[in-house]
Amino acid sequence: MPGRRTLLLAAVVLLCSSCAQKTEPPPAAAPAVPKGAPIQITAPLGLPPVPAPADNPPTAETVALGRRLYYDPKLSVDNTVSCASCHGPEHGFTDGKSFSEGVKGQKGGRNAPTVFNAAYFTLQFWDGRAPSLEKQAEGPMQNPIEMAHTPQGVEKRVAADPSYVPDFEKAFGPGRITFEKVTKAIASFERTVVSGNSPFDKFMYGGDKKALSAAAQRGLAIFRDPKKGNCNACHTIEEKYALFTDNKFHNLGVGADGDKLKDLGRYEVTKNEADKGAFKTPSLRNVTLTGPYMHDGSLATLKDVIDFYVGGGNSNPWRDKEIKSLDFLSRRDRDDLVAFMESLTGEIPGNVGKP
Ligand code: HEC
Ligand code: HEC
Repeated sequence: MPGRRTLLLAAVVLLCSSCAQKTEPPPAAAPAVPKGAPIQITAPLGLPPVPAPADNPPTAETVALGRRLYYDPKLSVDNTVSCASCHGPEHGFTDGKSFSEGVKGQKGGRNAPTVFNAAYFTLQFWDGRAPSLEKQAEGPMQNPIEMAHTPQGVEKRVAADPSYVPDFEKAFGPGRITFEKVTKAIASFERTVVSGNSPFDKFMYGGDKKALSAAAQRGLAIFRDPKKGNCNACHTIEEKYALFTDNKFHNLGVGADGDKLKDLGRYEVTKNEADKGAFKTPSLRNVTLTGPYMHDGSLATLKDVIDFYVGGGNSNPWRDKEIKSLDFLSRRDRDDLVAFMESLTGEIPGNVGKP
């Protein structure tokens, strides 16, 4: 008869061997934590401090890695499309097209917004469906008409390039290259793509009264006057800074034909009747660089945009109450509004181009 101790030992051995044989499920992945010292991204004149989530403070290493990934077409299934293909510095971090082209020349149904100052948007995408830059970055890599990849595919592709391994280790410490690390690094890089210190900022916040032409100064006044342009109601200018967006959603009637809407916009996310045809207010910073305009890229020039507002947008049952005909604005008023928007072209940080 085996003694009690032998039995116990046998049981332990049995137990252990059975657990070793099971195919181990991957351990519940611990969140990827940037390893280096957090950096403070310097906000240019006219912009508030750059916000970042507590679980992904930007570090020099994650920003550098994110910059490399942002410009790398490896992230797409057929190695042809990078984030910069649709949000490139040569087009004000957009693509200059009405609708972007993804892998195999496929076209989507919305205009690519700029990545400039996206760090300040509380929700991402025209319809606000992503709550952060990290979550946003997951979208295009998996979108079948943009980069058409999968999280696992991206992980494998990036890990197959040995030169990425040290970059990931410097950024997140040792361990597997994960999709989460990819999206966190890209988001940290995007937070450095901030642009301010425009002639408007120098005039408004820098005390340089000569920074704006007389026409642009008149345009600013019209922009802010609730009885005139009323643009400020949504493209906000605050006392200490200006985001030129209220981070909210409004229906202007872009793409509307009576009560027929081509794109339901924010409604797709919230299913609130009031959100039908509403889109996020885009910032107007660097707006001369980011045409064509509106969520469908339907307006080619800033003059076209002003004409659209002068006509009160497109009438439809969900049009925002702040949008009304501005046909009382004189020709000079309209030109002044354009001159003002032209003063919003800011400085581009030196370290955000292709590495
Ligand atoms: C094929 C073109 C294409 C590619 C590639 C692409 N994007 Fe976009 N991006 C778009 C379009 C179009 C939208 C707007 C879609 C919508 O709102 O539904 C968008 C939206 C965004 C936004 C939201 C900005 C805002 O104002 O809400 C950010 C940020 C962004 N993209 C970053 C990225 C990053 C990072 C990558 C790479 C991982 C990337 N994009 C790849 C076309 C593209
Ligand atoms: C009720 C809020 C609201 C008001 C008021 C408003 N806008 Fe807008 N603006 C928006 C929204 C929302 C969009 C995007 C609409 C869309 O694509 O469907 C937009 C788009 C734009 C664009 C295109 C930007 C781009 O990147 O595509 C410009 C330029 C612009 N507005 C300038 C102005 C000017 C100038 C005024 C005043 C005459 C004004 N806006 C008044 C909310 C507003």
